[in-house]
Amino acid sequence: MLYRLPKMNDKRILQEYMQEHYDKEETGISASHGLPASEYADWVEKIQRSASVGEEGWGRYLLYLCFENDKLIGLLSIRYELPQNLTEEIGDIGYGVRPSERNKGYATAMLRYALSVCKEKGKDKVLLGCYKDNLPSVAVIKKCGGVLVAENDNYNEGRISQYYEIKL
Ligand SMILES: CC(C)(COP(=O)(O)OP(=O)(O)OC[C@H]1O[C@@H](n2cnc3c(N)ncnc32)[C@H](O)[C@@H]1OP(=O)(O)O)[C@@H](O)C(=O)NCCC(=O)NCCS
Repeated sequence: MLYRLPKMNDKRILQEYMQEHYDKEETGISASHGLPASEYADWVEKIQRSASVGEEGWGRYLLYLCFENDKLIGLLSIRYELPQNLTEEIGDIGYGVRPSERNKGYATAMLRYALSVCKEKGKDKVLLGCYKDNLPSVAVIKKCGGVLVAENDNYNEGRISQYYEIKL
């Protein structure tokens, strides 16, 4: 897979990516860092700035578009400088795969890549959060060595959140 930051001229492929989710009645776009509610140019600037100098309260992070054969497959958020309180709330890594490309191993490959980036950046472990009932995501995390370390229903209307640690 090819991983890179978004550019100004990616607007159309990202609109198509979001539309595919809406066509499947999925309202949220995982790991998009607010793309649906943003002006596209402002969003690209924010993502590029966050990769280079960071964002207040978040540190530097990488939001990568993930391609296979020139097709946008998914989004990958690697938040390798998050403060501990945010790590414990949202986790260090987020990802989403477009509906038509699921169950082909892409998210597993993306998470493995994110783990290698975090290791390169000097981290020795990461924490990942996901809902207990999100069985595909739980499967992806476990395939990459995730060990359940916490569970709670403090966030989002009683849906149980799980937190998995992966040592690097
Ligand atoms: C979660 C998500 C990223 C997984 O992407 P993906 O590319 O399909 O993941 P992979 O193909 O690498 O692996 C999926 C695994 O889930 C398993 N799976 C799929 N549906 C399942 C189900 N209903 N119950 C149990 N396991 C399931 C698959 O069998 C596969 O595991 P396996 O390889 O051991 O067989 C994708 O479903 C998605 O984008 N969902 C919406 C956004 C989201 O939930 N993001 C994560 C937030 S924490």
